[in-house]
Amino acid sequence: MKLPERTSTPVKISRKIERLSADSAFVVLARAQALEARGFSVVHLEIGEPCFETPGNIREAGRRAIEEGRTRYCNSQGLVSLREEIAGEILRTRGLQIPTERIIVGSGAKPLIFFAILALLDDGDEAVYPAPLFPVFQSAVAFAGGHAAPVPLREELDFRFDMDEFRARITPQTKLIILNSPHNPTGGVLTAEDVREIAALACERDLMVLSDEVYDHMYYEEPPASILALKGLNERSILVSGFSKTYAMTGWRLGYSVLPDWLVEPVVRLINSSVSCTPEFVQMAGLEAMTGPQTESAEMMRVLKERRDLMIQGLNQIPGISCRTPRGAFYAFPNVRQVGMTSVDLSNCLLEEGGVATLPGTAFGPEGEGYLRLCFSTSEENIREALRRIRRVVSQLGTR
Ligand SMILES: Cc1ncc(COP(=O)(O)O)c(C=O)c1O
Repeated sequence: MKLPERTSTPVKISRKIERLSADSAFVVLARAQALEARGFSVVHLEIGEPCFETPGNIREAGRRAIEEGRTRYCNSQGLVSLREEIAGEILRTRGLQIPTERIIVGSGAKPLIFFAILALLDDGDEAVYPAPLFPVFQSAVAFAGGHAAPVPLREELDFRFDMDEFRARITPQTKLIILNSPHNPTGGVLTAEDVREIAALACERDLMVLSDEVYDHMYYEEPPASILALKGLNERSILVSGFSKTYAMTGWRLGYSVLPDWLVEPVVRLINSSVSCTPEFVQMAGLEAMTGPQTESAEMMRVLKERRDLMIQGLNQIPGISCRTPRGAFYAFPNVRQVGMTSVDLSNCLLEEGGVATLPGTAFGPEGEGYLRLCFSTSEENIREALRRIRRVVSQLGTR
């Protein structure tokens, strides 16, 4: 049978989809892999994930759960047993007793951020967020029809907000404040005082706060302050965290959120209408992650601190580059303005001429111009080799 000819007018994708930006880490990864396929050696510092394996006890729990047949549809909000453990974690780390009914388990922190923003913002509502930023915040706000009000994180303040600038961004249209501490891509951590000031502002101006704390266990000094625990914030804040970073489980896709009562059902409805539920065997692995020995994640942080110090010291020895010491997460965010190229050109040049894959700071918004993001969760050998290559490329650029 002859198929009908296609109409000459191509079907267009929706305008909503145009508002979503793609994660450039995966674009750079694909270019780096194409170079590797041609025999070129590349040191990968672009993807933001722990270079460690998921601990053995967690992998085993996932395998066992599959063998036991925990492979069917399950509760869209998440297993009660896992939510009980998450409630225990919130009590231990934030001193707050949260009923399991206010906890949602999802397939990673990312969709929970996306869904919470979709459930909250209407056309024209404003969201204040850090700049540079984890790109999902911007995509989700734009997708929901909201307006973005970026507030710069100041390098001279160790990538924290200038609170006068922060306050000035709040307008009568502001509905939501998005926080991310420890921060991707800068490694900055808000102080307890910063968080207190933002909490007071949220109460005074009747705003919601979404606090992305996926790096809550990845800090190098005192534990980061969490806004959820502050007076008056319990009912107006959304906490998002997960298992990807703390337990090296990026590919398992497991995260959680603590929300006010009235926001739980709309977010569960979004889960139910899209992915249905989070695979039960993945949640069983998450249960083991929380209840089993914590030695491997503690060891991971010890090793990461050594790698951070190696990376930051090495970057600061390269003429034209200066880098603040990150207090959390696993990214270096060096200032490369003195090199005299845009971030994108320098990142391309480092990949093509030096074999080092990095992300330009602008992958995290225009405020990232003049910076690169380098993930130091890789082997010591890779960090030393990357530093040698960056030094060589940058010094050649200086002599051109
Ligand atoms: C700030 C921030 N939030 C959320 C995520 C996503 O975490 P998940 O893997 O749990 O979706 C990331 C991952 O890089 C991140 O950097």
